[in-house]
Amino acid sequence: MHRFLILNGPNLNLLGTRQPEVYGSVTLDDIEALCQAHGTRIGAQVSFQQSNHEGVLIDAIHAARTDFDGIILNAGAYTHTSVALMDAIASIDRPVIELHLSNVHAREPFRHVSYISKVAQGVICGFGAKGYVLAMDALAGILDG
Ligand code: DQA
Repeated sequence: MHRFLILNGPNLNLLGTRQPEVYGSVTLDDIEALCQAHGTRIGAQVSFQQSNHEGVLIDAIHAARTDFDGIILNAGAYTHTSVALMDAIASIDRPVIELHLSNVHAREPFRHVSYISKVAQGVICGFGAKGYVLAMDALAGILDG
């Protein structure tokens, strides 16, 4: 059974009330339920985590060296700023899928830059909560070879 870390960054705990015109009304708990149900379907064990703190996200990525087979990462705004998260991903031998609920390329220019993309296997964005399910299938595909 594959072990997935689904890691969510800053402000994603506020989904449901945060800018619903951009992110919709789905909450992070709803998304976790979606991911757990899909994990059961495809035979993946899911650890779903969120932190507003860059260092905590880095520690979680390091923990994947021993605890997880791959990572789905919605790094939130740290996507566009964090060399430290990029370095953490580059330092571990685990596939990472970059994920965004919104289509970051259709938004402000600063969101078109991603440090995560430089070290991720692939990127899924613009599909809302469904993107998490798509990312899980993509990660399973990578791990199954
Ligand atoms: C986001 C996109 C980021 O630009 C933004 O800072 C977020 C959420 C998304 O899921 O669409 O916090 O990662």
